Amino acid sequence: MNSKSPRKVRKAVFPVAGLGTRFLPATKVIPKEMLTVVDKPVIQYAVEEAIEAGIEHFVFVTGRGKGAIEDHFDLAYELEATLKARGKSAEFEMLKASRPLAGAASFVRQQEPLGLGHAVWCARDIVGDEPFALALPDMLIHGRRGCFAQMIDVYSRHGGNIIAVEEVPHEHVNRYGVVALAGDMGHETFRITGMVEKPKVEEAPSDLIISGRYILQPEIFAKLATQKPGAGGEIQLTDAMIALMGEQDFFSYRFEGTTYDCGDKVGYLAANVALALDRPDIEPKFRPLLDKLVKK
Ligand code: UTP
Repeated sequence: MNSKSPRKVRKAVFPVAGLGTRFLPATKVIPKEMLTVVDKPVIQYAVEEAIEAGIEHFVFVTGRGKGAIEDHFDLAYELEATLKARGKSAEFEMLKASRPLAGAASFVRQQEPLGLGHAVWCARDIVGDEPFALALPDMLIHGRRGCFAQMIDVYSRHGGNIIAVEEVPHEHVNRYGVVALAGDMGHETFRITGMVEKPKVEEAPSDLIISGRYILQPEIFAKLATQKPGAGGEIQLTDAMIALMGEQDFFSYRFEGTTYDCGDKVGYLAANVALALDRPDIEPKFRPLLDKLVKK
């Protein structure tokens, strides 16, 4: 169904309950979402992207050992009071700007990491009957304009469900959810006709992968409620979206920006280098060091 003026997207969901096994031992005590890229935790990039898109409420699906995420988005009273007393106003303002307003963040526990689809389902009561944005915070998207802000533009034109996609080398498609497309809608937007999670390379319908940002309608929760485990024995969001595709429009959007998979060591290192080179306060000192290392 294509509604003329789609309902506003006010809430964003951040599943952060995964075990981060690819990043052990770093993630034994520290949640992988709290690993820093340059000087900010990975999760903060996704939250700032949502703030830029006008999101008002932030829902974190957490698990045991993820308390640091909750603390990170809370008011650090002693720290902020000390910064203020010492006249460190830039640092004080930075901390203030990066935390949600009182009451604008919710935390819900997934209890068992049964898969991304299950994590999203755990947010059902907090999201309620409204469309919502969903970010996989591991996927850090760096660009001139945030991916969510770009997606909200597409959503305001077409409504329905919007999935950010990007092209990967054909031999890598078996690691991701892959979309089949038809009908060019302009502005890098296509109608989605099919999806498959982690297909065999020879069976993939395209080289366009689902890259960690979604705008979804609340009817997805009813599909997730009865979703059986799929690829990898996990409850897959892609399978629930396939079920909902029979009833609602799904559109893909090829966003502007570069994705770094910070749940993976190489992607994480690349994110640190790329974002450091993009920082005017760091680049002049960092680039000569990097050049020297690369020449070795
Ligand atoms: P990943 O598969 O990348 O996360 O899930 P993971 O399981 O923590 O990673 P590895 O493979 O063990 O290193 C993508 C996102 O979905 C969340 C993760 O926290 C991550 O943000 N997730 C995944 C959950 O919240 N719950 C789950 O059951 C699975």
